[in-house]
Amino acid sequence: MLKKFLSYFIPVNIVKKHSEISQNLEVTWNNGQLVLDSKNTNYSYGSLQRILRKGLNYIGFERIRGFKSILVLGVAGGSVIKTLTDEIKYKGKITGVEIDPKVIEIANTYFGLDQIINLEIIICDAFEFVLKTKEKYDLIIIDIFKDTVMPNFLFEDYFINRINYLLKVNGFILFNTMTLTRQDKERNALYKLHFNDDYSVRMYPKVEDHNELYTIKKMR
Ligand SMILES: C[S@@+](CC[C@H](N)C(=O)[O-])C[C@H]1O[C@@H](n2cnc3c(N)ncnc32)[C@H](O)[C@@H]1O
Repeated sequence: MLKKFLSYFIPVNIVKKHSEISQNLEVTWNNGQLVLDSKNTNYSYGSLQRILRKGLNYIGFERIRGFKSILVLGVAGGSVIKTLTDEIKYKGKITGVEIDPKVIEIANTYFGLDQIINLEIIICDAFEFVLKTKEKYDLIIIDIFKDTVMPNFLFEDYFINRINYLLKVNGFILFNTMTLTRQDKERNALYKLHFNDDYSVRMYPKVEDHNELYTIKKMR
């Protein structure tokens, strides 16, 4: 309680972990909220949760409650999953795919992710997962970073086409990106060219400084 109170004045770190995959992971009280950070950026809760909440708001909470199956690529501490279950009251199935088992240990210990009954966590590379899954989804949330770096595969045809195939008609993709450099901005500018008229692509710029969010609806 004292740490939480102090965190309104100064961040209070409660655990630091090293991971082969993510390098540094830190759980910190910040402004009365427990957050998960990597070395250079916020991974879960804090600003990251606000960003994805905005994206879900653009799609519409009422519409989301009607969905049957949601895929989350990049789970970390699970803040978007908590937004879905606690705020939106989404009761359908959630599949979360995360590459780093250490991150999931933290998510369970400090953020109670293993208490969510409609959630299945799969520890796997998201790229491999989308190639092998046989299910289709109403909403696919793509939130994959290694610290501040987004892997190239996210912007390549092969992955994009496979995600589009896994998306049900009238379903949505919510894609969180970071644009720190000129190359990132160019990469993002090309991204929407991967979608034909069957898709409605919207970009929301400057969501919390460096983030650009995309919502993509499959129309037919
Ligand atoms: C910004 S965090 C995700 C935050 C999360 N969506 C939330 O709402 O709290 C990015 C996550 O992507 C994971 N990640 C990075 N590369 C991945 C990959 N190839 N497959 C699956 N997860 C990956 C990282 O380990 C990290 O936990």
